[in-house]
Amino acid sequence: MEKKYYIKTFGCQMNVYDSSRIADMLKKEGYAETNKQNDADIVIFNTCHIREKAAEKLFSDLGRAQLIAEERANDGKRTIIGVVGCVVQAEDEQIIKRAPYVNFAVGPQMYYRIPEILHNIEKDSKAESVIDTEFPAVNKFDFLPENKAQGVCSYLAVQEGCNNFCTYCVVPYTRGAEYSRSVEEVIKEAKRLIATGTLEINLLGQNVNSYHGEDESGKERDLAYLLHKMAELDGLQRLRYTTSYPADMTDDLIACHKDIDILMPYLHLPVQSGSDKILKAMNRRHTAGDYLRIVEKLYAANDKLKMSSDFIVGFPGETDEDFQKTLDVVNQVKYIQAFSFKYSRRAGTPAAVMDNQVEEKVKKERLEILQTLLFDYQTKFNQACVGKVMPVLFEQKGRHKGQLIGRTPYMQNLHARTKDDNINKMVDVVVTDATTNSLSGKEI
Ligand code: SAH
Ligand code: SF4
Ligand code: F3S
Repeated sequence: MEKKYYIKTFGCQMNVYDSSRIADMLKKEGYAETNKQNDADIVIFNTCHIREKAAEKLFSDLGRAQLIAEERANDGKRTIIGVVGCVVQAEDEQIIKRAPYVNFAVGPQMYYRIPEILHNIEKDSKAESVIDTEFPAVNKFDFLPENKAQGVCSYLAVQEGCNNFCTYCVVPYTRGAEYSRSVEEVIKEAKRLIATGTLEINLLGQNVNSYHGEDESGKERDLAYLLHKMAELDGLQRLRYTTSYPADMTDDLIACHKDIDILMPYLHLPVQSGSDKILKAMNRRHTAGDYLRIVEKLYAANDKLKMSSDFIVGFPGETDEDFQKTLDVVNQVKYIQAFSFKYSRRAGTPAAVMDNQVEEKVKKERLEILQTLLFDYQTKFNQACVGKVMPVLFEQKGRHKGQLIGRTPYMQNLHARTKDDNINKMVDVVVTDATTNSLSGKEI
């Protein structure tokens, strides 16, 4: 019988990308995907360490995985349990101490070793758990099998890691120092994705607009250059990039939103807070004013452009006035989408030991106020789309027969009654209805 794998992914798009690369490797090893954990010969958790809740959830999932593995063992089936991703990098040996039945744990830079690790474990049923959290001197991308389209929309990692060290954030520790892939490597991967059915590419990086990959002559090139190169590729219909850091939004990059047709009019640019005092304590290298000036330039470059953002409420030292300034930024930018979080104390980061921590109750109240305001703008924008015609790239079948789900240029989910062969196609749709989270429409 064919061996099967099950992967559960937590965290950001970079983890989603990594999981799809792990899936590529496992398929090459002869495994098939299953979404039923009970059927899986190998179970992998790709983990996130960004906030406390995410990390704790892993251990309850692992406990459940072990129970399933025991049941399968009673039927004579072996299950290999692996943990990858940012929790491994942060916890290191602690993972195996807390969950000794885990067969292997590898950090985000070392997952290219999974096939080799699996061979060893398969050979020796009593093999000891493997832990690997080195930051290698090699480029992991060189060791991965060729990336095929994940569907009609694909992610393509161009940059990884972060040197910004925001005082609340674990990413510089879990993902390591910033690294950019070469222009050639990126274009080659993009061509392969397009050849295997991708129409939309989202260039990915923890800090994607600090991209500085080498071109063929060894010259360092920035993201604006890379976007222009991508726009020359035949067959690519949509281009996006995420996530950007405000201080790295250059004028050249802003101009791309005017000059490149296939660049979608939607940008995720996290501000975190609207208070200069808090931004400084966060070690963000921008003020609220700097951020608003960038947004103004972006809106001037392309009047169709809309923004999304991430916010943290209740960072140490945040007062009601500071929080009000965050609301002020929201009212000026009018985001059409956003992620907002209560500040979560992460061991090893500078903010975790700041002595002016905000009470949980206050964080909760502020989050509710912020989210109400954010949802209000989001709903208003969605409603303003009703009656408009939008190109929708249909990616999957809907719950009901004759229904497809796709995305608008603004990343809104839209479902429409339309024929099945519109799947994987860009179709003009008139929006007929809107809620906070999605649109419905019909083909024109
Ligand atoms: N590189 C991206 C985001 C990385 S993490 C950037 O700089 O914007 C994704 C989001 O998680 C962050 O934007 C931030 O809003 C949130 N986040 C990170 N650390 C956090 C913490 N300790 N508590 C709460 N939210 C956090
Ligand atoms: Fe974390 Fe800041 Fe780097 Fe984003 S820029 S990954 S928030 S340290
Ligand atoms: Fe989480 Fe790691 Fe991404 S901590 S947000 S999975 S980089």
